[in-house]
Amino acid sequence: MSLVFSGIQPTGAIHVGNYAGAISNWVRLQQEMDCIFCIVDYHSLTVAYEAKEMPRRVMDAALDILACGIDPERSRLFVQSHVPEHTELSWVLSCVAPMGELNRMTQFKEKSERVDWVNLGLYAYPVLQAADILLYKADVVPVGEDQVQHLEVTREIARRFNHQFGDTFPEPKPRLTKAARIMTLSDPSRKMSKSIEGSAIMLTDSEDAIRKQIKRAVTDVGPPAEPGTMSPGVANLFSLLEVFAPIEVYARFKGDYERGELRYKDIKESLTEEMLRVLSPIRERRRELAAKPGEVCRILKDSAADLRSRARVTMGEVREKLGLTACQ
Ligand code: AMP
Ligand code: TRP
Repeated sequence: MSLVFSGIQPTGAIHVGNYAGAISNWVRLQQEMDCIFCIVDYHSLTVAYEAKEMPRRVMDAALDILACGIDPERSRLFVQSHVPEHTELSWVLSCVAPMGELNRMTQFKEKSERVDWVNLGLYAYPVLQAADILLYKADVVPVGEDQVQHLEVTREIARRFNHQFGDTFPEPKPRLTKAARIMTLSDPSRKMSKSIEGSAIMLTDSEDAIRKQIKRAVTDVGPPAEPGTMSPGVANLFSLLEVFAPIEVYARFKGDYERGELRYKDIKESLTEEMLRVLSPIRERRRELAAKPGEVCRILKDSAADLRSRARVTMGEVREKLGLTACQ
């Protein structure tokens, strides 16, 4: 049976891009597959942060994910640093990871442009990501489009390890939604991102803030690049509609667009209503969960205990294959 693994950084509230590109798929996949979801706190050490804020950020991520519908009875949700085997395997994998591949990572290039000096962790980030996935021998990884390149590295690392030390890891594949790259509403040339101030609609934003952001969304910027192609802003509204609205609503607006009868005001209003319809119960659940932090911690800790025993089995096998067996 397929095993699903995915992760998200505890770097602030989750936005509708995270929901559309990844978490909506997590919720769907848990109906049919064994799923592990991870709050990757070690990954988030690669960018500057306040240590005293970290516990709250991890809790916020857990609340967001559970509120979106991850069911702890079906899926495991845990914190990366609670299972130290992630970093142990990461070192091992860094000794088979080709630097040539890592040098090509666009996320590394983008992030390293924004800082005065570049730490090694930022560079090694995709290797830790590979360790997250391979530690459980997961084969399906639901992520947004920006992670596809990192998954290519994971597959390359798995291949190299298997080649050098014998068949050990499956080669995991990304699983994308139809909205794998949501753009910033006010600037559809840029990906919606937590790290760009004001670029994202957060799941926890007020109704009013959501209405305003969608109302102000950029639709047409000059003539289309090619005649007959949808402008990026309008395409973005359609991507969001596909995630948040019933298929009939999406199809109706698509029909309007094809007949040249689409009114931006109407699609924006409909998107707002549909998004609020999906987000209000999520926000309500989040409020309920936030009142029970002890219960959330128990979910995270129980999952980590279960996963730690699975991780130890893989590490035993890895040590054996590497010849790290003296005096045993
Ligand atoms: P991050 O917030 O970078 O930890 O991303 C968590 C998940 O959300 C990853 O699977 C990303 O690929 C996905 N994601 C982040 N931003 C977007 C976006 N603008 N559109 C679609 N998916 C996204
Ligand atoms: N790099 C991912 C992101 O920024 C988060 C992540 C870490 C992840 N480990 C993972 C995603 C393993 C999928 C599988 O979004």
